[in-house]
Amino acid sequence: MPTDEAAEGGHDLRHHGDAEVRDDGSELTDLAVNVRTDTPPAWLLDRISASLPSLAAYPDGRAARAAVAARHGLPVERVLLTAGAAEAFVLLARALEVRRPVVVHPQFTEPEAALRDAGHTVDRVLLREEDGFRLDPAAVPEDADLVVIGNPTNPTSVLHPAGTLAQLARPGRVLVVDEAFMDAVPGERESLAGRTDVPGLVVLRSLTKTWGLAGLRIGYVLAGPGTVARLERAQPLWPVSTPALVAAEACVSSQALAEAGHAARRIAKDRDHLVAGLREFACTDGLRVVEPAEGSFVLVRLPQAAGVRHALRDLGFAVRRGDTFPGLGDEWLRIAVRDRATVNRFLQALDRAMTVAGDGGGGGGGGTGTGGGTGVVPPRQPPPRLPGPPGPRPESPPRTSSPA
Ligand SMILES: Cc1ncc(COP(=O)(O)O)c(C=O)c1O
Repeated sequence: MPTDEAAEGGHDLRHHGDAEVRDDGSELTDLAVNVRTDTPPAWLLDRISASLPSLAAYPDGRAARAAVAARHGLPVERVLLTAGAAEAFVLLARALEVRRPVVVHPQFTEPEAALRDAGHTVDRVLLREEDGFRLDPAAVPEDADLVVIGNPTNPTSVLHPAGTLAQLARPGRVLVVDEAFMDAVPGERESLAGRTDVPGLVVLRSLTKTWGLAGLRIGYVLAGPGTVARLERAQPLWPVSTPALVAAEACVSSQALAEAGHAARRIAKDRDHLVAGLREFACTDGLRVVEPAEGSFVLVRLPQAAGVRHALRDLGFAVRRGDTFPGLGDEWLRIAVRDRATVNRFLQALDRAMTVAGDGGGGGGGGTGTGGGTGVVPPRQPPPRLPGPPGPRPESPPRTSSPA
């Protein structure tokens, strides 16, 4: 049963950042997809390549499963390897007997889409901008027997305290915490991975973001042995390929964990730089950044976001539209954290895109396509200023609109 946009409250739950950089977007600088740049590293590619001669054999997941279990200090019965975290959403939706699933939004939309496709009626808890998109556990209905929440949350970049999430646990309830981006948080603080004292806890992890393995498909589930067994029975035979198993084993080695920790600290610094630059648009353009941002992406609210996004495309940059996330509207954009030089180029392009959108160009409107732009802005124009956070633009007409 395919998902139905009308039933989803007008949100296209199957729209993801990769749509912004496909086809006519393939040449754009990608700030739409949250996969770390310059990945996979050479050492990981070498390990994956070395597995290719053994492709004639069926995959044997035992070593990778044991390595993942050891990384989290868990017995293997608590680990299930999956073809990305995305497979886990489908397994959970199909294999568990659930009466009242609740998804905490705004968040990655695939868990809800998978639940709907499996025939469930899904309730939403919408976290609010006024609360900084932070969770009040009391907002989750008491009789919810499946609760899905992301930590840190895509797209808000909010990192919920582990203790707050643990408060959602109840006997008779499955609590799914999607930690796909947790390895981009220095020290993985607030992670619930490895915890066995939280009833009904299911932690999902992805290896595709930090390691640039989105095309390989590898992730895993950490849960009680009974839940793991149920999910495993719903999997097809050999769901994770040999190269993906090799990657999983490699990505949980102590060398890889140290490298991921280093990358997380660098992302935090680059994010600070991006956020500082974005804040400069607050007074002149009414742009607001959701803070504190703790993930490898930043959520912003700004008037004319659709026009700005289209103008950015004409200037060579793809960012993620926010309006397909329940709880957000067409004033929202998500921006992936990139290295300082790319961030500087982006901020200059944003400065120009704001002007274009404010002047009524740049596509405007809340159109649903990723769009190829409007042709209003000449492609790859030199940016108006040299690197550094943008200041006021004398050439911009005064604008009075501010975010609602
Ligand atoms: C929050 C979140 N969870 C899970 C996934 C799926 O990750 P994977 O590539 O491991 O399937 C994504 C992908 O964008 C995501 O944003």
